[in-house]
Amino acid sequence: MKVLNTLDDWRSFCEQQRRTGHEIGLVPTMGALHEGHETLIRTAVNAGDVVVVTSFVNPLQFSNAVDLATYPATPQDDERLARRAGASVLVRPSVDEMWPDFPTSTLTTVSVAGLGDILEGRDRPGHFDGVATVVAKLFAITGPCHAYFGEKDFQQVAVVARMVRDMAWPVTLRLVATVRDADGMALSSRNRRLSPQGRACALGLHHALVAAAGSSASVEVRKTMMGDVMRAAGVAVAYAEIVDPVTLDPVDATFTGEARALVAGLVEGVRLIDNAPLTLGGTNAAGY
Ligand code: PAF
Repeated sequence: MKVLNTLDDWRSFCEQQRRTGHEIGLVPTMGALHEGHETLIRTAVNAGDVVVVTSFVNPLQFSNAVDLATYPATPQDDERLARRAGASVLVRPSVDEMWPDFPTSTLTTVSVAGLGDILEGRDRPGHFDGVATVVAKLFAITGPCHAYFGEKDFQQVAVVARMVRDMAWPVTLRLVATVRDADGMALSSRNRRLSPQGRACALGLHHALVAAAGSSASVEVRKTMMGDVMRAAGVAVAYAEIVDPVTLDPVDATFTGEARALVAGLVEGVRLIDNAPLTLGGTNAAGY
């Protein structure tokens, strides 16, 4: 596995691979790789792609300076994990390489209006503009590819899917189910910042989703239930919503079919999110 640092080397590698008939599988990350990322890489390898993993802690998507400064960094472990999982290249560009004029007030920004302003976007203004902007740049450098994203960041996937559609990026999104610990806790780089007690509280997000999925109560009751379960576990609840999986609009009592339950909250100052499929107006076929 090669480690590349410049946009030129990264672009040339991808062009060369395509010229020789290979397809590129792009796995965008911010480093601090865990088994969830490993599953993305392995899925891409198993699909026959030449896998390019990017590791870049994108300052544009952090509205909170402490969150950015404390984002975990495990470069040596990342390299080992990416190699073991079968990646061909790990790209680690510097901030100067990605955003030479950062911080600046004149930066092209990609914004998915509406979808980027609700839920996580409401509490983290500018976050999804930062995500859409950096992902657009990753796509521009990589060129035509399959891009692998985890369903754990459900709103991020919705924002990126909309951007791909609206901008006609030559990119096919491939979504991979959330990887969980044996007790159901969704894997996240941020989990490393939790104490053992904090981790026990954070499990409340998963338990809230299990409660909502296992209930046949109305949407409103299930939302209240999710909030109650999280609060009882010690989570400072940010939201507990049930939404249309494409538009992310809240669903009401008349909605039937596939919806998505989304939860977010703070534990020990760490913001955590999780989500699960829900079938409304019938049996819960998702089996969450
Ligand atoms: O999900 C992440 O790790 C990041 O938001 C992404 C997609 C790599 C963009 O910085």
